[in-house]
Amino acid sequence: MEVFSDSEQINEVIEAIKAQHLKIGFVPTMGALHEGHLALVKKALLNNDKVFVSIFVNPTQFNNVNDLKTYPRTLEDDLKLLEAISSEILIFAPSVDAIYKGNTKSRKFNFDGLELEMEGKFRAGHFDGVGTVVKRLFEIIQPDNAYFGEKDFQQLQIIKKLVDNYNIPVNVVGCDIYRERNGLAMSSRNTRLTDEQKNAAPFIYKTLKAAKEQFGTKSADKVTKWVTMQFKNHPQLKLEYFIIADVDTLKTVKRKSKNKVYRAFIAVYAGDIRLIDNIALN
Ligand code: PAJ
Repeated sequence: MEVFSDSEQINEVIEAIKAQHLKIGFVPTMGALHEGHLALVKKALLNNDKVFVSIFVNPTQFNNVNDLKTYPRTLEDDLKLLEAISSEILIFAPSVDAIYKGNTKSRKFNFDGLELEMEGKFRAGHFDGVGTVVKRLFEIIQPDNAYFGEKDFQQLQIIKKLVDNYNIPVNVVGCDIYRERNGLAMSSRNTRLTDEQKNAAPFIYKTLKAAKEQFGTKSADKVTKWVTMQFKNHPQLKLEYFIIADVDTLKTVKRKSKNKVYRAFIAVYAGDIRLIDNIALN
């Protein structure tokens, strides 16, 4: 399996692939890979001639220094997991300098207001950091198709907006949320949970499913109040937000409308570990 760390090296390989008119699939990640990431990679392998996976913990998208410091970095294990799927996968694992060239800052983006909702409210500058690194990675890899998980649904919508607003010729493919058997959405941060927190965390998806059920007959406001109550006095989990939003605008629903598509979004703290999840409502 080939692992590249600088963009000059990888450029040559990409030029050769492009010259043969082969289709490139791309899965950007921050490593600490789990089955959720691997599902994206498997989908990419099915629909492309060559697949690149990037492994890069992007400093500019972390609004919390401690979160960046404690983010799991497991490159050796990640490479083994990818190798087990296919030795044909091409890996891009750059240094911070290879991406940012000594200027580790994000640029400002216009995502038509999508960046101001939910994660945007609670993680200042996060989506400018994501936009900066994904745009740079797209420029280097030049993929035909790029794969993103619905686990980070707001990120997925923002990347779709990024390619539209900035005329980037990449097809963005959304992929289902991959869960543990107990319902907990897989996340690299799950490895930091204590046993007690691990036992408590499936409550998040359980509550989302109950909210979905209630949304059939109740208003968004009623469901939101009910969910808030469920987390009140929870010994392990602290609710940051629960929102029912229109998938196109990501704005909170005031009144339900028949021809709109809705999703419920949640962010919860287990100790200092932040977990997010979401569910389609209709
Ligand atoms: P990371 O959190 O490593 O996730 C990489 C990709 O895997 C994202 O598209 C994410 O939505 C997807 N993913 C993570 N957990 C998943 C799950 N349980 N089911 C399905 N997909 C899942 O998201 C990022 O990295 C970064 O923001 C990145 C896009 C790489 C930019 O730095």
